[in-house]
Amino acid sequence: MKKAIITGISGQDGSYLAEFLLEKGYAVWGILRRHSQPEYQSNRLEEAGIYGHPSLHLVYGDITDFSSLCHLVKDVQPDEIYNLAAQSHVKISFDQPVFTTKADGEGVLNVLEAARLGCPTARIYQAGSSEMFGNECDADGYRRETTRMVPVSPYGCAKLYGYNLAKVYRSSYDMFVSNGILFNHESPRRGLNFVTNKVVVGCINIARGKQATLALGNLDASRDWGHAKDYVRAMWMMLQHDEPDDFVCATGEAHSVRDLCEEVFSELDMDYRDFVIVDPKFFRPTELHDLKGDSSKIREVLGWEPEYTFRQMIEEMVKARL
Ligand code: GDD
Repeated sequence: MKKAIITGISGQDGSYLAEFLLEKGYAVWGILRRHSQPEYQSNRLEEAGIYGHPSLHLVYGDITDFSSLCHLVKDVQPDEIYNLAAQSHVKISFDQPVFTTKADGEGVLNVLEAARLGCPTARIYQAGSSEMFGNECDADGYRRETTRMVPVSPYGCAKLYGYNLAKVYRSSYDMFVSNGILFNHESPRRGLNFVTNKVVVGCINIARGKQATLALGNLDASRDWGHAKDYVRAMWMMLQHDEPDDFVCATGEAHSVRDLCEEVFSELDMDYRDFVIVDPKFFRPTELHDLKGDSSKIREVLGWEPEYTFRQMIEEMVKARL
């Protein structure tokens, strides 16, 4: 039985990945942060139907608490470690830059050191982000593994530090550390303060007469939105490869926030223009305007393909909330 540790198991990706690994017969250890209402830590795992699974072990710890990581890695001796824990909201990283840097930057260092000292043979997946590119892109408008990275948010800066550190541990200590450069990925389990689920829930609330309008920020920004289920499969595939490497994971298709609103509202036969208003409070101090990824490398080297289209993902998200 293979053993995996997932940091950030209570999040969207963590819950899908745990589900995926348990189905493959892994024993999974997940790190939970202490919360005064512990049910908030496990609701996604319950939704996935894996809470209480005999091969799922949940332990208290924190990405910023080196000792908890050290003990866990030493005791479990995992085959694989997936570092998904992060303060993952870009706008909130402007409000909490210090915490974001500790969790998303120094947290990576803690995981790498815990592995180096306690289980250097573990294969490590580091969750990088398309936010690391900032507004840089190649002449054809796509971002790929070779595109320059010039982040425009504290979140992007912290992620870039973790990404570079992962490369340094790979080359300096001969450790198996792979970076996923994941573009936006969504699902019914997405937090409600990310734009996709905010629009889905807002639209349904309007249809049910619970709210009159939906206030959003920049409607012209565009993103390459995939489904989280497809992306956790990519994480696993990266660790099954014969050598560690860095891979962009994206659909290659971009939609604006306005397109997203149109798509979601039309699912309920409504016109978003009657309900969506712009509130500058949701603007970011600096915006990453457009994101579109070229995932040729992961498709060619690992044979990864997304299964969901943008429309199928939106349909699933609307259906789940209804
Ligand atoms: N959250 C939010 N709320 N975003 C809004 C809103 C709003 O009311 N209105 C417009 N937007 C725009 C944002 O300005 C941004 O351009 C876009 O919608 C997407 O915002 P988010 O859903 O918050 O995601 P993100 O792109 O900032 O970050 C996500 O993707 C990254 C990968 O590129 C997160 O999942 C990050 O953790 C991830 O690394």
